[in-house]
Amino acid sequence: ALLPVRDLILQNKVISPDGFTRPAIVTNGTFPGPLITANKGDIMQFNVVDQLKDHVMNKTTTVHWHGIFQQYTNWADGGAMVTQCPIASDHSFLYNFSTGQQAGTFWYHSHLKQQYCDGLRGPIVIYDPEDPHRGMYNVDNEHTVITLSDWFHTPANIDIRFPQFNSTLINGRGRWIGNPTAELAVINVEYGKKYRFRLVSMSCDPDFVFQIDEHELTVIEADGQNTHPLTVDAIDIFAGQRYSFVLNADKPVHPGLSGNYWIRANPGFGPVNFTGFINSAILRYVGAVPDFPKTQWNQNPRMLNESLLHALEDPQAPGAPNQDPGAVDVPINLHFTIDNGTYYVNGHTFVPPPIPILLQILHGHVDPHKLLPTGSIIGLPRNATVQVTMPGGVDDIPHPLHLHGHAFSVIRSTGTPNYNYENPVRRDTVNTGFEGDLVTIRFRTDNPGPWFLHCHIDSHLAAGFAIIFAEETNAASQLKPPTSWQELCPIYDELPEWDH
Ligand code: C2O
Repeated sequence: ALLPVRDLILQNKVISPDGFTRPAIVTNGTFPGPLITANKGDIMQFNVVDQLKDHVMNKTTTVHWHGIFQQYTNWADGGAMVTQCPIASDHSFLYNFSTGQQAGTFWYHSHLKQQYCDGLRGPIVIYDPEDPHRGMYNVDNEHTVITLSDWFHTPANIDIRFPQFNSTLINGRGRWIGNPTAELAVINVEYGKKYRFRLVSMSCDPDFVFQIDEHELTVIEADGQNTHPLTVDAIDIFAGQRYSFVLNADKPVHPGLSGNYWIRANPGFGPVNFTGFINSAILRYVGAVPDFPKTQWNQNPRMLNESLLHALEDPQAPGAPNQDPGAVDVPINLHFTIDNGTYYVNGHTFVPPPIPILLQILHGHVDPHKLLPTGSIIGLPRNATVQVTMPGGVDDIPHPLHLHGHAFSVIRSTGTPNYNYENPVRRDTVNTGFEGDLVTIRFRTDNPGPWFLHCHIDSHLAAGFAIIFAEETNAASQLKPPTSWQELCPIYDELPEWDH
C-alpha cells in the first residue's frame, strides 16, 4: 500500500535521558525518534522537515533508513554527499521508497558527520503478514522494541575526534554515574505469554552484551533476515545491528518473589556495572510489585556466536549466493589501517566529495575511477557475485562494517577459520573481530547506484573508515534523482563549480 506522507520534524531541544541535561536533536519532539512501522511491500513517504538551529550539532541533515535496500531508489538512501546534498535548515525533503520484499527490524538515523550521536536515531519495524515465525513459535505479542544507545554529554560534532560516551540508554532511559536515581525503562510482560522482542543497536560506538536475568533468548532474526532459531543467554550486538528473539515469560509471580528482572546492556568497554542500576532496564511481570530487581548477573552466559546463526530462508534465493569460491565474479580484499587518528581502506581515507556521488554519475561520469573521492570508489558490474574479505583487529578493537543497498551472506565469521557456503547468516552489518579474523561476505549486484560500506562506529566513519561501491554506473538510466533534488544542492554556497 502507498502509505500517507508522514512528517519527521527535526528540532533542537534540551533533554536529560540519563539525568544529565544537554541540548540534543529530537524527531517529532522525542529521543529516540518515534517508532516507524509498515508492512512488507508498503511504500513509505517521509517529509523530513529541518528546523535545526544549533550550529554545533549542525543545522543541515540527512536521514538514512538503515537496512532498507532502496531497490532502484538509491537517491533516497540518505548518505550525505553520497546520494544527496544535506537538507538545509528551514527546508524539507521528501523521501519515498518501497519496503519491497523486506520485513523485520531496521532503524533510521542522520547520515551527516556524527549527527546521529546527538539524537537523530529511531527504530523501524516492518511486519510480514505471512511471517513464517508466527506459526513456528506461537508468539502472543510481537510489538516490543528495545533500543540501545550510547549517550554523550558533549555534542559529537565539536572538535573531539573520538568522543567517549557517558551512559547507556535502553529505550531512551538510563543513568550516568553522576545520577544514580534517573528513571529506568520498564518493559512489561505477562506470565505465560511468549514475546518477540526486537533489539536495535542505535549505538555510535560500543557493542553491548545484552542479557535478561534468568531468561533465555531465542534468536530468530538478524538485520531483517530470518534465521534458524538459536537459543542463547546473551547477545553481543554491534552498532547498527538488530536481532529479534523469542522470550518466554515463564516465571510465575508469587508473593515474596519480586517479578522484576534486570535487563542488561553492558558496553564492550567503558562504564560497566554488574549490579544493575546502570546499563540497565527492568523486565516486570504483570502483578509484580514495582520495585528494583534483585536478580543476579549471569557471568558465564551462552553467548550468541554468529558462526552458529544460520539463514532460515533458502540461501539460493536471489541475492543469497552460496557458490563455492570459484564462482565469485569479483573478489575484493580490503585492508584497514589507522594512522594518526585517520582511517584508511586500502590506503585511502574517505572524505565526502564536493558533489554527491550519485549526482556525478547522473552527470555522465560512468567510469568509477573518475568519480570523487578518488581512490575510495570501487566500480561493480551488474548481476555479479561479489566477495569481500575484511580482516579484524585494526587498532585492536572490533569494527562493525555496514553495507548499504544489500544484505550479504557471512560465509566466514569471526572466531572461525571455516567457511559456510550452505546456509550462512544474511545480514547488513557484521563484526569484523580481532587480529586473525578474516570476515568474508558475499552479495549479488542487483541494485544500481553508489553504496557505502563503512564502519558503523560513527567517529570512525567521520575519520574516513569507508568506501563506496559504485554499482552499475553504466546503467545510469536506471538511476533517478528525486524531483526536488535539483533545488537541494544549489542551496549551498560552498558547492564549487564542477566541470562535467
Ligand atoms: Cu546505519 Cu551508513 O549507516
